[in-house]
Amino acid sequence: MTKIITIDGPSGSGKGSVSRLLAKKLGFSYLDSGALYRLLSIAASRCQVASNNKKGLESLAEHMDICFELDDTGELRALLEGEDVTLEMRTENTGELASKIAGHSEVRAALLKRQRLFAKGDGLVADGRDMGTVIFPNANLKIYMTASIEERASRRYKELLAKGEDVSLRALAEQVRARDERDMSRDVSPLVPAEDAIELDTSSLSIKEVLETILDTLDAKGFR
Ligand code: C5P
Repeated sequence: MTKIITIDGPSGSGKGSVSRLLAKKLGFSYLDSGALYRLLSIAASRCQVASNNKKGLESLAEHMDICFELDDTGELRALLEGEDVTLEMRTENTGELASKIAGHSEVRAALLKRQRLFAKGDGLVADGRDMGTVIFPNANLKIYMTASIEERASRRYKELLAKGEDVSLRALAEQVRARDERDMSRDVSPLVPAEDAIELDTSSLSIKEVLETILDTLDAKGFR
């Protein structure tokens, strides 16, 4: 049986970095479900499918040709129809559009099947918003990671500055707040902790400390 660990939480909670490190440490596969929504939004822009065209988006979600791989530095690279779209996938615009189309139940149903296919082999670390509540409700361990809006905006600010992008911290905090609001209040699969999830506030923790906390939890559960 494939062991499944779900790590859900809002953007900037650190779940992506922690999930990738955890998957590497355990020798498990990794699913970045947000990347699927992001690739769908890029595919929609390329094919000129509007963000309110539910049927068009559903069809793209079912048929788009995607491929993920972790590179040597541990970062996720993404191919869409054979084209490397890694950089475009991480822009704020792509994230915004992804969050909009993620509200359509047709899109979520089409991506649900694709996400479950990632569960194979020894284990999977699945990172997203509804991994523990909808996609893998029987997961062996569910973590819900969060952090204050200020801390999440500041993390994003530093990331973008390091990439040479000119951004305002205040505007980023507003974007983080608006994205939370949309993800938490939508009708289908809103971002909420699963009832049996362990909640982890990472505001004052480093990635290393979060990883150690999760590994301790796994040990306490006799998981490793
Ligand atoms: O995690 P990331 O920022 O890459 O996700 C982009 C958007 O995709 C989120 O704001 C959210 O609206 C959507 N998403 C989702 N369900 C998931 C993962 C991401 O609705 N499991």
